[in-house]
Amino acid sequence: MSTMIQHDYRGVYHFSPREKWMNDPNGMVFFNGEYHLFYQHHPSGMKWGPMHWGHAVSKDLVGWEELPIALAPDELGMIFSGSAVVDWHDTTGFFGGEPGLVAIFTHHLEREGTSPLQTQSLAYSKDAGRTWIKYAGNPVLKHDSFVDFRDPKVFWHAEQGRWVMIVACGQTVCLYHSPDLKSWTFASEFGDGIGFHGGVWECPDLFPLPVDGDAAKTKWIMLVSIGDSPDYPEGSRTQYFTGEFDGETFVPDAHSQIVRWLDYGRDNYAGVSWSDVPAEDGRRLFIGWMSNWKYANLTPTEGFRGAMTVARELTLRTLSDGSAAVIQHPVRELAAARVPLVTLQNATVAEAQAALAGLRLESYELRAEAAPGSSFAFRVRAGGGAETIVGVDASLSQAYVDRSNAGLNEFHAQFGGRHAAKLEAGGAAEVSHDLTILVDRASVEAFANDGQAILTDLIYPNADAAGLSVTGDEGLVFASLAVYALKPPAGGS
Ligand code: FRU
Repeated sequence: MSTMIQHDYRGVYHFSPREKWMNDPNGMVFFNGEYHLFYQHHPSGMKWGPMHWGHAVSKDLVGWEELPIALAPDELGMIFSGSAVVDWHDTTGFFGGEPGLVAIFTHHLEREGTSPLQTQSLAYSKDAGRTWIKYAGNPVLKHDSFVDFRDPKVFWHAEQGRWVMIVACGQTVCLYHSPDLKSWTFASEFGDGIGFHGGVWECPDLFPLPVDGDAAKTKWIMLVSIGDSPDYPEGSRTQYFTGEFDGETFVPDAHSQIVRWLDYGRDNYAGVSWSDVPAEDGRRLFIGWMSNWKYANLTPTEGFRGAMTVARELTLRTLSDGSAAVIQHPVRELAAARVPLVTLQNATVAEAQAALAGLRLESYELRAEAAPGSSFAFRVRAGGGAETIVGVDASLSQAYVDRSNAGLNEFHAQFGGRHAAKLEAGGAAEVSHDLTILVDRASVEAFANDGQAILTDLIYPNADAAGLSVTGDEGLVFASLAVYALKPPAGGS
């Protein structure tokens, strides 16, 4: 087997740039039947460097077509993270009365002898994102006292009839509003004395979600990504708060005193949601950068570095302690890529094992459902003495991913290890012991307890580590067990 094949870590159904470095997803917006995904990109380097916005589009959130770079550095600096919106009513005056796309991003300017300057700027596109014009009046928002002032996420607040921006400012977030995206008024600041402060705050998002699917009851969700610090083995990760928002001020729920992470694996960072998903669709769609600043510049890929998670749908579930938890499921479009390989019902562990034993798979989806109280584990990407274990441990009330022996781990001392997410009962319902595992050439994403316990982890196994097996409690019966190869439609990334 050639070295090239052994180390082909490009995901089959995960987006990666054709070549070179990628980090955060940026500017996700739906317009004219296309989902846009921009991203932090260093087009001439395998490590983080002068940031551009790369660009890809998709019709189904699964197959991505990479387009030319959208935004490149200029005299105001590099192009850091940000968002994009459809300016439906031409509030900016950029589009002669038509709808058009506006990107709101951070300009990051390195300055000699002093700290860098971060300001917020605009660019707009009159041709559905193919070409971009930077606004002549940039920057549109500056701040004198924050060195870290970045990653604006903008949305239209219908009740107030104006734009709202949430932007990271040091170790808090600041909220502004604007009639036209060009002039901004400070509204409030959130984050002092609440939440995790073990790293810089970055890439915030703020959006409403129906509570338990009831459109009459909504809560606002604030995502805040927290940068890496040597003090925490978890590295960079994303926290969220639930609460109320009136267009000016975010008031957190009492439960927000307890820190809640969006993902209990190591590799889901800087994720935010899509703008302008049509109301008749109604989903809140999310994608994250599948890496961690702890080791992002060291991961052992060749030719490109960086991948996104699968696109996910976010919903909100009330847990039995009364708090609201963000729930994640892979977008339903992924099901179109399924090729069924195993479909079992009421299968004992031995029957399940017999069905899995012959499979040799790199990229697939596995769905298992067992009775509450059961413990079971799947060994994925197994072979040559390596394996990644993904399972549910009822005695600890955990879902977990153990990548201690997943393959290439040596590139960083803290890469290996076992990561766990607590299984929490929802409302009156018991914890359900279902587990969906998305396996690709260099990643596993585990969704347990109907999307409540989430773990996203990179792995670097050999291509021939393609075995799959299962173990479980004595007497355990899987109510259902399915394995699907995932083959995305042509035109994918
Ligand atoms: C998050 C981040 C952002 C910043 C970007 C720079 O990963 O640090 O805060 O805009 O990356 O590439």
